[in-house]
Amino acid sequence: MAKHHISFNLNGKPVEALVEPRELLVHTIRENIQLTGTHIGCETSHCGVCTVDLNGKSVKSCTLLAVQADGGDVLTVEGLASAEGLHAVQQAFVEEHGLQCGFCTPAMLVRAYRFLQDNPDPSEEEIRWGMSGNLCRCTGYQNIIKAVQSAAKKLQQA
Ligand code: FES
Ligand code: FES
Repeated sequence: MAKHHISFNLNGKPVEALVEPRELLVHTIRENIQLTGTHIGCETSHCGVCTVDLNGKSVKSCTLLAVQADGGDVLTVEGLASAEGLHAVQQAFVEEHGLQCGFCTPAMLVRAYRFLQDNPDPSEEEIRWGMSGNLCRCTGYQNIIKAVQSAAKKLQQA
Protein backbone atom coordinates (compact mmCIF):
# COMPACT_ATOMS: atom_id res chain seq x y z
CA MET A 1 0.00 0.00 0.00
CA ALA A 2 1.41 3.42 -0.94
CA LYS A 3 2.58 5.38 2.06
CA HIS A 4 1.83 9.02 2.74
CA HIS A 5 4.36 11.51 3.96
CA ILE A 6 2.91 13.53 6.84
CA SER A 7 4.38 16.23 9.02
CA PHE A 8 3.02 17.83 12.15
CA ASN A 9 4.12 19.55 15.32
CA LEU A 10 4.52 17.13 18.20
CA ASN A 11 4.99 18.75 21.59
CA GLY A 12 6.14 21.91 19.86
CA LYS A 13 8.68 20.25 17.56
CA PRO A 14 8.21 19.40 13.88
CA VAL A 15 8.11 15.67 13.10
CA GLU A 16 7.65 13.71 9.89
CA ALA A 17 6.48 10.19 9.23
CA LEU A 18 5.70 7.85 6.37
CA VAL A 19 2.36 6.22 7.12
CA GLU A 20 -0.08 3.88 5.47
CA PRO A 21 -3.46 5.49 4.78
CA ARG A 22 -5.07 3.17 7.36
CA GLU A 23 -2.46 3.79 10.10
CA LEU A 24 -3.87 5.08 13.37
CA LEU A 25 -2.34 8.14 14.99
CA VAL A 26 -1.57 6.24 18.19
CA HIS A 27 0.57 3.75 16.25
CA THR A 28 2.41 6.55 14.48
CA ILE A 29 3.18 8.23 17.80
CA ARG A 30 4.24 5.05 19.60
CA GLU A 31 5.84 2.91 16.91
CA ASN A 32 6.89 5.29 14.16
CA ILE A 33 8.05 8.22 16.30
CA GLN A 34 8.68 6.02 19.37
CA LEU A 35 7.11 8.27 21.97
CA THR A 36 5.48 5.71 24.24
CA GLY A 37 3.80 7.81 26.93
CA THR A 38 0.53 7.56 25.01
CA HIS A 39 -0.90 4.13 25.75
CA ILE A 40 -3.15 1.67 23.95
CA GLY A 41 -5.96 -0.10 25.76
CA CYS A 42 -9.13 -0.96 23.89
CA GLU A 43 -8.46 0.50 20.43
CA THR A 44 -12.20 1.04 20.16
CA SER A 45 -12.43 4.62 21.51
CA HIS A 46 -13.81 3.43 24.83
CA CYS A 47 -11.05 3.58 27.48
CA GLY A 48 -9.36 6.87 26.65
CA VAL A 49 -5.77 5.81 27.46
CA CYS A 50 -4.71 6.92 23.98
CA THR A 51 -5.99 10.49 24.51
CA VAL A 52 -3.83 13.24 23.04
CA ASP A 53 -4.45 16.86 22.19
CA LEU A 54 -4.91 17.65 18.49
CA ASN A 55 -5.31 21.30 17.48
CA GLY A 56 -6.56 22.24 20.95
CA LYS A 57 -9.03 19.40 21.39
CA SER A 58 -8.81 16.11 23.26
CA VAL A 59 -8.95 13.21 20.81
CA LYS A 60 -8.66 9.46 21.14
CA SER A 61 -5.70 8.71 18.96
CA CYS A 62 -6.85 5.10 18.37
CA THR A 63 -9.82 6.52 16.52
CA LEU A 64 -7.99 8.95 14.29
CA LEU A 65 -5.97 8.21 11.18
CA ALA A 66 -2.43 9.50 11.27
CA VAL A 67 -3.06 11.37 8.01
CA GLN A 68 -5.70 13.43 9.84
CA ALA A 69 -2.93 14.93 11.98
CA ASP A 70 -1.01 16.12 8.92
CA GLY A 71 -0.18 19.80 9.40
CA GLY A 72 -1.60 19.83 12.92
CA ASP A 73 -0.42 20.42 16.46
CA VAL A 74 -0.28 17.37 18.69
CA LEU A 75 0.42 17.37 22.42
CA THR A 76 1.19 14.19 24.35
CA VAL A 77 2.06 13.68 27.99
CA GLU A 78 5.73 14.13 27.11
CA GLY A 79 4.95 17.74 26.19
CA LEU A 80 3.38 18.79 29.48
CA ALA A 81 6.47 19.38 31.62
CA SER A 82 8.74 22.29 30.76
CA ALA A 83 12.24 23.40 31.69
CA GLU A 84 10.67 24.93 34.82
CA GLY A 85 9.45 21.50 35.98
CA LEU A 86 6.25 19.50 36.02
CA HIS A 87 3.04 21.02 34.73
CA ALA A 88 0.47 21.92 37.40
CA VAL A 89 -1.70 18.92 36.50
CA GLN A 90 1.26 16.58 36.88
CA GLN A 91 2.20 18.14 40.21
CA ALA A 92 -1.38 17.84 41.44
CA PHE A 93 -1.60 14.14 40.47
CA VAL A 94 1.58 13.52 42.48
CA GLU A 95 0.36 15.44 45.52
CA GLU A 96 -3.19 14.06 45.52
CA HIS A 97 -2.18 10.46 44.71
CA GLY A 98 -4.17 10.56 41.49
CA LEU A 99 -2.75 7.30 40.21
CA GLN A 100 -2.50 3.67 41.17
CA CYS A 101 -0.95 1.45 38.49
CA GLY A 102 -0.42 4.50 36.31
CA PHE A 103 -1.51 2.95 33.02
CA CYS A 104 -4.31 5.47 32.48
CA THR A 105 -2.35 8.37 33.94
CA PRO A 106 -0.67 9.90 30.86
CA ALA A 107 -4.01 10.27 29.11
CA MET A 108 -5.68 11.50 32.31
CA LEU A 109 -3.06 14.23 32.51
CA VAL A 110 -3.45 15.28 28.88
CA ARG A 111 -7.24 15.26 29.20
CA ALA A 112 -7.12 17.20 32.51
CA TYR A 113 -4.83 19.75 30.87
CA ARG A 114 -7.31 20.39 28.01
CA PHE A 115 -10.35 20.24 30.28
CA LEU A 116 -8.90 22.96 32.52
CA GLN A 117 -7.97 25.09 29.51
CA ASP A 118 -11.62 24.96 28.47
CA ASN A 119 -13.08 25.23 31.98
CA PRO A 120 -10.62 26.83 34.43
CA ASP A 121 -13.02 26.84 37.40
CA PRO A 122 -15.03 23.61 37.20
CA SER A 123 -17.45 22.12 39.71
CA GLU A 124 -16.89 18.55 40.86
CA GLU A 125 -19.74 17.42 38.63
CA GLU A 126 -18.17 19.17 35.64
CA ILE A 127 -14.85 17.47 36.37
CA ARG A 128 -16.54 14.05 36.55
CA TRP A 129 -18.28 14.70 33.25
CA GLY A 130 -15.21 16.27 31.64
CA MET A 131 -12.99 13.31 32.57
CA SER A 132 -15.61 10.65 31.84
CA GLY A 133 -14.05 9.61 28.53
CA ASN A 134 -11.01 8.30 30.44
CA LEU A 135 -11.32 5.05 32.36
CA CYS A 136 -9.11 4.03 35.26
CA ARG A 137 -9.27 0.27 35.62
CA CYS A 138 -8.04 0.53 39.20
CA THR A 139 -11.18 2.64 39.77
CA GLY A 140 -9.20 5.20 41.76
CA TYR A 141 -11.40 8.04 40.64
CA GLN A 142 -11.71 9.92 43.93
CA ASN A 143 -8.09 11.03 43.97
CA ILE A 144 -8.16 11.81 40.26
CA ILE A 145 -11.05 14.21 40.90
CA LYS A 146 -9.14 15.76 43.81
CA ALA A 147 -6.06 16.11 41.62
CA VAL A 148 -8.00 17.94 38.90
CA GLN A 149 -9.54 20.23 41.54
CA SER A 150 -6.08 20.94 42.94
CA ALA A 151 -4.64 21.55 39.46
CA ALA A 152 -7.44 24.04 38.76
CA LYS A 153 -6.45 26.00 41.88
CA LYS A 154 -2.77 25.89 40.99
CA LEU A 155 -3.47 27.18 37.48
CA GLN A 156 -5.73 29.95 38.78
CA GLN A 157 -2.95 31.13 41.10
CA ALA A 158 -0.22 30.88 38.44
S1 FES B 1 -7.08 2.78 23.21
FE1 FES B 1 -8.09 4.50 22.43
S2 FES B 1 -9.87 4.70 23.61
FE2 FES B 1 -8.96 2.86 24.32
S1 FES C 1 -4.11 4.10 37.63
FE1 FES C 1 -4.36 2.09 36.92
S2 FES C 1 -5.71 2.22 35.25
FE2 FES C 1 -5.69 4.14 36.16
